[in-house]
Amino acid sequence: MSNPGDQQAFDRCRQALFGASVLRSSLSPIILWGRARGAALTETPLTQFAPDVYAGLYAPLFMFAGTATVTFDEDEQLYKAVLPVGFRNRLPPGQFPYPFWHDKTKWSSYQATVALQFFIDPDSDLIKVAQFVPGAPSPTVLAEAMEAAASFDGHWLWTDGNGRTQPQVTLFDGLYRADNPHVAEIESRYRALALEMREAECDSCHVPGNPQKLKRLVLLQTPAHAAGEIRRILESVRNGDMPQDDTGIEKPLPPAVKQRLLARAEAFEAILTAARDWENRHAAE
Ligand code: HEC
Repeated sequence: MSNPGDQQAFDRCRQALFGASVLRSSLSPIILWGRARGAALTETPLTQFAPDVYAGLYAPLFMFAGTATVTFDEDEQLYKAVLPVGFRNRLPPGQFPYPFWHDKTKWSSYQATVALQFFIDPDSDLIKVAQFVPGAPSPTVLAEAMEAAASFDGHWLWTDGNGRTQPQVTLFDGLYRADNPHVAEIESRYRALALEMREAECDSCHVPGNPQKLKRLVLLQTPAHAAGEIRRILESVRNGDMPQDDTGIEKPLPPAVKQRLLARAEAFEAILTAARDWENRHAAE
């Protein structure tokens, strides 16, 4: 446990977890993440993440006490590992994957977290579901969360006073090496793709506010989130499964829009591959 605003401790933690960590290699190809609500998992809204997004951007927001209790959850038929944690609530805003304070309950619950619980599949030994378990938030935390939610301006990406895009963690800042020559282009190619996704109205569903109340939300609103889903974006658009209308029926895109969206998604995927390959080649240096 360290100070909840300790940037260096946070950086060491996310670099370790994003790298070849036991946590990362123990995550299912799609891990479900969200707040524990005392209900069955099938009844609980959760967000879908690729392992590197969860290991690099979410798990490191917690400080681990270093202990765990493991039981078998008869109802879920899954092992449940409970790890006492504290939440790093004093980091600068750009260190969170998106402004959790857009929602007062979400922000106060995150800050009051006492444990993470990992549900582990007994057959694969992989973590299928991870949840944060909130205790009771203090009146100060509650009041501050209410104020923050009221002043949230609706932007999932923003530019700070130095002209820098935020949240910087979603641009692989500190996860990829500073001299990786492909990182700058991840942002520009994401922005090009994001324009097409807006045209196709993907952001009417795939954003943290979850306007359609999806039970298994997929997030696409930052470079890191879209990077984690790029294969599924390509596949679902190619197949015509996405976008949908709000009754869940496929809503075909005009051919020109679909073609542009796919071209930009492919360009985004290509730069992600180049950046990752570069990291792998230079990992040993
Ligand atoms: C009206 C709401 C809506 C819109 C608009 C929409 N989606 Fe979806 N999307 C969904 C739902 C619902 C799911 C299923 C979530 C689940 O697995 O439970 C989904 C799933 C996905 C998935 C995961 C697919 C998989 O393999 O399981 C991706 C990727 C995705 N959408 C991308 C997009 C893209 C890209 C667009 C815009 C071109 C888009 N969606 C527009 C509602 C929407």
